[in-house]
Amino acid sequence: MDAGSGNFRMMGRVQIVSVSSLKGGVGKTSVTTGLASAALMRGMRTLVVDLDPHADSTTSLAVARGDGTEVAQLLRNARRSRVSEHVVRSGWLDLLPPEHRSEARLDVVVGSALSSTFDRPDIRPRDLRRLKALLTGLTGYDLVLLDCPPSLSGLTRIAWSAADQVVLVAEPSLFSVAGTERAMRAIRLFSQEFNPGLGRTKVVVNRVRTDSTEHEFRLFEMESLYHDALLVPVLEEDSQWQQIQGAAYPVHRWPGDQARGLAEAFDQLLVQLVPPTGD
Ligand SMILES: Nc1ncnc2c1ncn2[C@@H]1O[C@H](COP(=O)(O)OP(=O)(O)OP(=O)(O)O)[C@@H](O)[C@H]1O
Ligand SMILES: [Mg+2]
Repeated sequence: MDAGSGNFRMMGRVQIVSVSSLKGGVGKTSVTTGLASAALMRGMRTLVVDLDPHADSTTSLAVARGDGTEVAQLLRNARRSRVSEHVVRSGWLDLLPPEHRSEARLDVVVGSALSSTFDRPDIRPRDLRRLKALLTGLTGYDLVLLDCPPSLSGLTRIAWSAADQVVLVAEPSLFSVAGTERAMRAIRLFSQEFNPGLGRTKVVVNRVRTDSTEHEFRLFEMESLYHDALLVPVLEEDSQWQQIQGAAYPVHRWPGDQARGLAEAFDQLLVQLVPPTGD
């Protein structure tokens, strides 16, 4: 782990980041797990809340479905549940050198299909605040990552209500850029009405093919739309990613130079989302 890890802990309050997109399959879970991996290596105590009914981040973080208390149950009993009593330790910790294992913390609130009962477009305000209630007063973590389903429906809005900031994941394609624009507008309206404390939305571009002129054009378009809200570096299309996720491995522990490049990209993204203090 990085020697500078203490700087993150000096921040005090936990940072809650929602990883969202309107479009499916653009890489929300990959970005969530890539950031979790970077945070783990950086010594940040991290909780991943898997809001997606498909529970892909639960699987990617080497947690068996059925372990722990499902997020839907916690949301149902939001005011009575202590989230820290229901989390499951990520199996990634077993891959760390033994001397780092005891101080490292990466936990998961497991996802399941049950959470789809909250994924309604007409979600009631009292349901909207359930995750916020659950995470209020949470201690022992520096970072909470909320992996959302691919819509702007109930579960994503539940995440936005609880979040300090939203990261939108986009591919450099026409429909994804259009979807990101719609999501940006939706977040602005949502923030005014329900969460004025929501920080500036950031955009992570994923699956960039450097040999594609269409991708080059869409990237240019996104740069002019989002300026410094567009995080760098962009993440390239990388066939290893499926293997890494299939093996339920943190990208920082995957061998080879290519994976090291990917891991470093997530280190840079993490620093921009949660800047260390005291450097
Ligand atoms: N940069 C990349 N290069 C290659 N494959 C990628 C990349 N990012 C993600 N993938 C793959 O694309 C698929 C979809 O990614 P992921 O599950 O992260 O997207 P998602 O937005 O969470 O999807 P969903 O909307 O279904 O939740 C996965 O198989 C993942 O391994
Ligand atoms: Mg996903």
